[in-house]
Amino acid sequence: MIEIKDNIYYVGVNDRNKELFEGLWPLPNGVSYNSYLIVDEKVCLVDTVEVDFFMPYIKNIKEVIGNRKIDYLVINHMEPDHSGAIELIRKYYPEIKIVANKKTFGMIEGFYGITTNEVEVKNGSKLSLGRHELNFVLTPMVHWPETMVTLDTTSNVLFSGDAFGCFGALNGGIIDSDINCDTFWLEMVRYYSNIVGKYGVPVQNALKKLEGVQLDYICSTHGPVWHEHISKVIDIYDRLSRYETEEGIVICYGTMYGNTERMAEVIARAASQAGIKNIVMYNVSKTHHSYILRDIFRYRALIVGAPTYNAGLYHEMEVLLSEIAGKDIKNRHYIGWFGSYAWAGKAVERIHHWNETKLKFEAVGTPVEMKQSLKEDSYAQCEALGRAMAERLKQDR
Ligand code: FEO
Repeated sequence: MIEIKDNIYYVGVNDRNKELFEGLWPLPNGVSYNSYLIVDEKVCLVDTVEVDFFMPYIKNIKEVIGNRKIDYLVINHMEPDHSGAIELIRKYYPEIKIVANKKTFGMIEGFYGITTNEVEVKNGSKLSLGRHELNFVLTPMVHWPETMVTLDTTSNVLFSGDAFGCFGALNGGIIDSDINCDTFWLEMVRYYSNIVGKYGVPVQNALKKLEGVQLDYICSTHGPVWHEHISKVIDIYDRLSRYETEEGIVICYGTMYGNTERMAEVIARAASQAGIKNIVMYNVSKTHHSYILRDIFRYRALIVGAPTYNAGLYHEMEVLLSEIAGKDIKNRHYIGWFGSYAWAGKAVERIHHWNETKLKFEAVGTPVEMKQSLKEDSYAQCEALGRAMAERLKQDR
């Protein structure tokens, strides 16, 4: 097992089998469930793993401590990808004491029926393991109401729960300085935007609580242990949780026979010719919305378009708009939209309704509604929409 620092060991596991995290989010590179063991006068386990991986997990633990008992299990976060092994850990270590906050214990009882051997901590509580001293900081809604982080003030190691996590299994290396991290950066943004994205304010509150704290390692529950790139990952989380974006346009569209797609192409070309370099385009029926959401968190402008379907909006676009609305994106985001119909138009009106009632982004340009196929007038309107968005973005330079 990997020793991170001062008898703090990584004992997590990798999941390369699951197709969809939370049943929703594709995992092309897998995901890791990270757990850590602090070996001192007292032995302390920090978080567990998804229950399907219990056998490799317990082997990892025993590889570090052999037959020694575990005194404490700190639970930073109760989502079952981390709490799933609590019951089995208690079977292996019946005397283990669970260290958690009041909200967590309510959930432990609800999920697993456990009500004994509990040590309740509050914000600022401390626990000595001998040489290592743990401090507990409550960080509600990063990403559930009970979430907290645990700071080892002896070794300057932060056990951060989901915070600073990302998708992607760990392929041998555990600590960022031992890994080529290139594949993790965009997956961190996709993880953040889809899993934690709704909770920007709580993430900002958590970052404030950690301001000025000396950190040598950040041990998240997913992805690499951060050491070399600590300032970069904090900066990524800080920018994302402030909904800070770069200049760029996400153009996403639904299309049945290519006519609405053609509108998107004209809009994109016009925006490009007006000087916007970052333009990404997605067919919503092909690209999973988690990737589109990731880019909406990266780029300031969004242009959406779809055909009318069943006297409403094309279903995949309806789903995407609902996902975007669910993330409660704040700060500046610009939106433009377009749509098409064969005999009775509804798509454009429906997208307008989504923006008016839920998204509340700044509307830019004139929406384009096309009947059947592009003609000279609708072509010019699409060009105008692309140019208008480009000009709006350029005002921010
Ligand atoms: Fe990795 Fe919110 O669980």
